[in-house]
Amino acid sequence: MRGSSNSPLRLVLLGAPGAGKGTQSQLLCARLGIPHISTGDLLREAQHAGSRLGREASRYIDRGEFVPDDLITAVVDQRLRHSAPSTGFALDGFPRTLNQAKGLDTILSHKGVQLTGVLFYDCPEEELIRRLSGRWVCDGCGAIFHFEPEDPAVKQPCPVCGGRLYRREDDTPDSIRTRFKRFYESTQPLIEFYTRRGILLRVDAAGEVEEVYLRSLAALSISP
Ligand code: AP5
Repeated sequence: MRGSSNSPLRLVLLGAPGAGKGTQSQLLCARLGIPHISTGDLLREAQHAGSRLGREASRYIDRGEFVPDDLITAVVDQRLRHSAPSTGFALDGFPRTLNQAKGLDTILSHKGVQLTGVLFYDCPEEELIRRLSGRWVCDGCGAIFHFEPEDPAVKQPCPVCGGRLYRREDDTPDSIRTRFKRFYESTQPLIEFYTRRGILLRVDAAGEVEEVYLRSLAALSISP
């Protein structure tokens, strides 16, 4: 992995829908003290705020389609523009296409920095579907949970902050099918792209959250 043990980590988390990118980003960012930048969260916040970006994004997100490359790359550029080059980050859900990966290279080269590593979370499809069908998210703190349909916890407030738990609008069978299709078509080629660059870190994403977290730290050569 590129970068010394003292330099901030600049990470990308790649993986199919439900692989655990959001869950692992939250744990890694808390441990490493780096900001978590989730393009899915940025777009959903824009949707809830009813901004122009949100209205544009809504045309794609609920159907499980990608928003256009130039739009999402501009969102990330804007988010990274004001951070110091010495600040690390974990980009969750960006890039997802080769065009976006090239856009990210340009953004980082203007800051004179490079990615440290790309964590690829690899998980069997039946487990991904199981996870997405039981996902609940807190509207207060953004914590992500998995509950079985009959679990009474789904009617309770968020155990972390007391916020309201909700199901994402794109966690429907049709939208999930489209998201998988887009992942295999467009995001999978990034695995080869970053492997050629020598920065791809493959993590087995099957198993308990804590196990996957420990594998992520090991891939980054960080002690628990
Ligand atoms: P985004 O929000 O990024 O959705 P996604 O890529 O489909 O990924 P998910 O958030 O569904 O899954 P995840 O891997 O984060 O899993 P999680 O940790 O939540 O993007 C949404 C939409 O925005 C896209 O479809 C697109 O329209 C648009 N968009 C965003 N970025 C874009 C871009 N760059 N370009 C174009 N469009 C873009 O976990 C899932 C569930 O599993 C949870 O319930 C969790 O509790 C559970 N879980 C996690 N890990 C484990 C484990 N180890 N064991 C058991 N359960 C687990």
